[in-house]
Amino acid sequence: MGKTTPGRHPSRRRPVPRPTLVVGNWKMRLRTGAAIELARALGQLRVPAGIEVVACPSYPALADVRRALVRSKITLGAQDVSAFGPGAHTGDVAAADLASLGCRYVIIGHSERRSAHGETDELIRRKLIAALAHGLSPVLCVGEQAEDRRLGRQHTVVSHQIERALRSVPPPHRRQELVVAYEPVWAISPGGPATPEDAFIMAQVIHQSLVDHYGERLTDSATRILYGGSVAADNVATFIDGDRIRGVLVGAESVEPRHFQHLVSAIPGGA
Ligand code: PGA
Repeated sequence: MGKTTPGRHPSRRRPVPRPTLVVGNWKMRLRTGAAIELARALGQLRVPAGIEVVACPSYPALADVRRALVRSKITLGAQDVSAFGPGAHTGDVAAADLASLGCRYVIIGHSERRSAHGETDELIRRKLIAALAHGLSPVLCVGEQAEDRRLGRQHTVVSHQIERALRSVPPPHRRQELVVAYEPVWAISPGGPATPEDAFIMAQVIHQSLVDHYGERLTDSATRILYGGSVAADNVATFIDGDRIRGVLVGAESVEPRHFQHLVSAIPGGA
């Protein structure tokens, strides 16, 4: 992949600083009725100017949640996407459908999908291509297992995940971003969070992999790195430094409106 894209001037495309991103991954925690209730409650949240909140309900709730959020500042995302275009793919949901349902983001390669559904870097790569082709901004999840960290190989595991997932993947374009969430598998609740120092070191590793793939300019203008794994109101500020880590992916604490409001309010510059 070339370092730059001819004819594009990413630095001109994004003259204003991008808001801190807070992505709520509701997982399969809520039935549709509860998801609508949560969306209505989130619609009342005070979302400060420097923060973008993304709600990612499960597929069946997307249309209702979109309606519930219509007058709010909260953006919609999905938790997964098919690698295929429309056709004979039982159980899959096409990127085109997610886009027309109003999704701007889609989580791809979450560790729960890698482990429970055997998703490989190659499948994740094809999902990234599908998402980008339909105007979605992927939230690519990467992260090492506890055993990898014990053996000190977290850097290679994560940079290989990125390298393999991005092979021949075209760059984000127009308003798209490639978001990479560093989510060490052992830190996802009920595990405990990583230390901010470890998260910053891994963000540096991820940044370097992105620069190797996209070049410096495109990495700066069209990618961002999040931290995920047991993020809560009392630790969120320690992970976001506005430079290396510019947002968070939140699971358990995103489905309880009061906790989520506290979390959003605890973000530096977000009170
Ligand atoms: P958690 O989940 O915040 O509950 O640890 C994060 C995630 O799995 O995306």
